[in-house]
Amino acid sequence: MFDLPALRAELSEKYDLAPSPELATEMSDIYDRMSRVITPADWAIYAPYVKAINELKIKRNAVILGHNYMTPEIFHGVSDFVGDSLQLAIKATEVEADVIVQCGVHFMAETSKILSPHKTVLMPDMEAGCSLAESITAEGVEEMRRRYPGAPVVSYVNTTAEVKAASDICCTSSNAAQIVGAMESDTVIMTPDQYLAQNVARDVPHKNVVWWEGSCIVHEQYTAQDLREFREWNPGTRLIAHPECPPEVVDEADFSGSTSGIIKYVTDEKPEKAMLITECSMASNIADELPEVDFVGPCNMCPYMKKITLEKVLYALDTMTGQVEVDPTMAEKARLSVQRMIDLSRKLGI
Ligand code: 13P
Ligand code: SF4
Repeated sequence: MFDLPALRAELSEKYDLAPSPELATEMSDIYDRMSRVITPADWAIYAPYVKAINELKIKRNAVILGHNYMTPEIFHGVSDFVGDSLQLAIKATEVEADVIVQCGVHFMAETSKILSPHKTVLMPDMEAGCSLAESITAEGVEEMRRRYPGAPVVSYVNTTAEVKAASDICCTSSNAAQIVGAMESDTVIMTPDQYLAQNVARDVPHKNVVWWEGSCIVHEQYTAQDLREFREWNPGTRLIAHPECPPEVVDEADFSGSTSGIIKYVTDEKPEKAMLITECSMASNIADELPEVDFVGPCNMCPYMKKITLEKVLYALDTMTGQVEVDPTMAEKARLSVQRMIDLSRKLGI
């Protein structure tokens, strides 16, 4: 747990972090990427942090990997690479920096460490977890293997290193159906997201997909009734859902895809009005790039993703605290599952 007043006091001894309209104007090229969703007054607060972080990245030879659910000031202000879970995992294998700062949740940082064991991977807040990752342990995977002997285990990357190590291969929301479809066995075990598994099961009807009963606290809140009512009240709105939503919600949507799949769909289609059935920052991060799209409707916040803030990123880089470690033997086994996913995705052209 962070002692935020102490953290702020420590940072302000080393950096000038007072709100600065002058700095905000100087850094207007960065602000232009988020001016539709961040007020000038807020940007004057963020600009000193963005400047300090970007300078410190050079000093530490660090890169920041930012997930699509990060807030705009992190996504546009300090991230060197942004993307969905698959893209960030691949990027972690490619970057040459000594330090990776993972702006996302803990399982993403663990994945980076598994793929780049010799790099320092920093997590700005170790409590940024994930309800899916917390829903299953390696014992749960073994229980599924006992229930379905011989069936391969495809685990979502939203899992701990221990669960990845106990699985045969990983998947993300952008490659799950293709990975499951490529398994030799008729029965395939998917963990831990029951809804992703149910959505995949419909895309690969020739497979008997069985699942663990985990769920995402952000996407499970949407109901088909919400979407029907929203469409009735707002005719002409394009509804776009993440596949962690229940299947009846995905059924009501016009498109379903990973976070990057959603961005690509909206960028290509440019609907007049769009409702993103996913985490709130998604729409904010693409609002400036797509001025012709009106992002409407409610969204749900991921409390874990929102633990990552500019001040915690600065603190992690300044003090080099929040280093993610994975037991080397477990990391080696987990790496096989993640690497199999990356290799198979490349082979399948995803
Ligand atoms: P993506 O792989 O689509 O980015 O999803 C990650 C996630 O946690 C969604 O809730
Ligand atoms: Fe986990 Fe859901 Fe948050 Fe994604 S949105 S990190 S799946 S809790």
